[in-house]
Amino acid sequence: MTGLFITLEGPEGAGKSTNREYLAERLRAEGIEVLLTREPGGTPLAERIREVLLTPGDEQMNPDTELLLVFAARAQHLAEVIRPALARGAVVICDRFTDSTYAYQGGGRGLSLERIATLEAFVQGDLRPDLTLVFDLPVEVGMARATARGRLDRFELETRVFFEAVRSAFLTRAEADPARYHLLDAAQPLTQVQQSIDALLPKLLERVRG
Ligand SMILES: Nc1ncnc2c1ncn2[C@@H]1O[C@H](COP(=O)(O)OP(=O)(O)O)[C@@H](O)[C@H]1O
Ligand SMILES: [Mg+2]
Repeated sequence: MTGLFITLEGPEGAGKSTNREYLAERLRAEGIEVLLTREPGGTPLAERIREVLLTPGDEQMNPDTELLLVFAARAQHLAEVIRPALARGAVVICDRFTDSTYAYQGGGRGLSLERIATLEAFVQGDLRPDLTLVFDLPVEVGMARATARGRLDRFELETRVFFEAVRSAFLTRAEADPARYHLLDAAQPLTQVQQSIDALLPKLLERVRG
């Protein structure tokens, strides 16, 4: 038995964390085991790496350091949490995964996509999400929501140009593989975003129950 690996992607303030709970509850109500997790993080050690990644500091973080830390946290998360859960047949819902690496370290920081792909293969082998929901919204809307939420982390302090590049990287990836990606208009009111998630459920349940 193998479970289903679902990732939620999109920029700051898009509603990933809000809607991950919603999706998890919907699936649990159907009697399905759901493991809800997030990146960077998801294990105590990976959460420590998350702190390093998100905390603004005096020393500028080299982009290669950032990329390697993201994948170091991911290796731990996959080994300790994600692979075991999938092996026992659970649905894993992960708030951010490797699409965020392509969007932030690739699109935002301008690191080579080939290099990211090399690390992806090294850390993940052939494991890729079965379904990726991309929460898309205009940069200014996302930034306003993130700002209203509280103190900004090291990524949220980036510029508008950075976030435009992040957004377009997510969109490019979603367009390249419509079988895996599902684009959601995250600028809509929450009830409408959740209706779009509800619309995905019948097919999702079919896949889980095989
Ligand atoms: N569709 C929506 N419309 C208005 N506000 C929203 C919507 N979705 C989420 N929010 C609010 O925006 C903020 C950021 O949402 P969050 O789920 O934390 O985003 P993310 O995890 O993608 O950064 C929260 O305060 C949340 O309540
Ligand atoms: Mg979040």
